[in-house]
Amino acid sequence: MLDAQSTLLAELIKRSPMGIVVCDPSGVLRIVNDKARQLLPMVPQPEGRLAKDTLPIPRLLEVLSVVDDSSIEEDLYIGSKILKIRSVSMGEHGRLAILEDVSTLYKAEDHRREFVANVSHELRTPATSIAGYADLLLNAGIELSTEARDMVRVIHRNALRLNSLFSDLLTLSKIEAQSVNMPKEDLELYPIAVECMDKQRQRAEKRGILFQLMVPKDLKVHANRDAMIHIVGNLIENAVKYNREDGLVTIRAELRSAPPKVLFEVIDLGVGMAPSHLERIFERFFRVDKGRSRNVGGTGLGLSIVKRLVDRMDAQIEVRSRVDRGSIFRLWLDPADPFAAVPEESGIETKKW
Ligand SMILES: Nc1ncnc2c1ncn2[C@@H]1O[C@H](COP(=O)(O)OP(=O)(O)OP(=O)(O)O)[C@@H](O)[C@H]1O
Ligand SMILES: [Mg+2]
Repeated sequence: MLDAQSTLLAELIKRSPMGIVVCDPSGVLRIVNDKARQLLPMVPQPEGRLAKDTLPIPRLLEVLSVVDDSSIEEDLYIGSKILKIRSVSMGEHGRLAILEDVSTLYKAEDHRREFVANVSHELRTPATSIAGYADLLLNAGIELSTEARDMVRVIHRNALRLNSLFSDLLTLSKIEAQSVNMPKEDLELYPIAVECMDKQRQRAEKRGILFQLMVPKDLKVHANRDAMIHIVGNLIENAVKYNREDGLVTIRAELRSAPPKVLFEVIDLGVGMAPSHLERIFERFFRVDKGRSRNVGGTGLGLSIVKRLVDRMDAQIEVRSRVDRGSIFRLWLDPADPFAAVPEESGIETKKW
């Protein structure tokens, strides 16, 4: 019975469409199935031999020799191939690594992103032209009947909507195309908040919404400048769009210790969101109230872009909200100086030159 089961197991391992490698704690390869041999450049009979003598891939050797219980998942680039490695500990039996060839999958994703980026770029040009001519018809003193003027207004509004939709799609595909994390620098938050607030001032004034800015002028974060302008801009835009008449938008930031982080908040007194909606707001095209969102010109891509940028910077974002009371969007960012939050009496000596 046991023999039959072992044969079945051996057959399953042999025929698995995933590469399977098991390396014991002394560094000897115990199992290398057919698929693994096909995926990896290695000698013909590697089983029973030391991994370091048979597998010329330093990173895979490192993964196979990890002795703790950690699971590892990462992409390994071998020539033109991309292998996804998933590795777990098998206790006294050593380590198991499962290998999957994801090259075609990644290539297909690249093509899809490239296609979306190209289409968005191509469609933005005619949309801009339609919006421009509609604007001209409305504002160049051309005589139009009331009915025609209303129609042109609809054309203008929708062309602008298309334009911002294509811009958002282009931004999303650009962010997703970047495989490495974004370069960061030390940045003052205050001018970024002011710049983004100024962009929304006209929209806010129209509805009697006031801004309250509580960001220390000397507070710096370690972040990507373009990403920060995009993130803060989107959060402030939403805080104005989904606010109530004569509402308030508070933008505040402070340095927190243990661990040292900068907390940046955008708080509004607007329509708020129900818990079931909160879970979904970072999804692409998700809008709580499609009618309202359309009126204020939303496409539902803003927060999905924010989330991707936040992830790319290894920062975090949280939301708290109550229907009809308002929302708080909180960003947790790295401070510029990691020792800035260490209290004086901590015993860490700091010297200034
Ligand atoms: N501060 C807020 N208060 C209440 N609802 C919000 C707030 N911010 C976002 N939402 C809700 O989350 C949805 C998604 O926001 P998101 O910024 O992604 O899209 P949008 O504002 O509709 O369009 P876009 O930002 O692409 O122009 C919004 O449609 C709105 O329903
Ligand atoms: Mg938005």
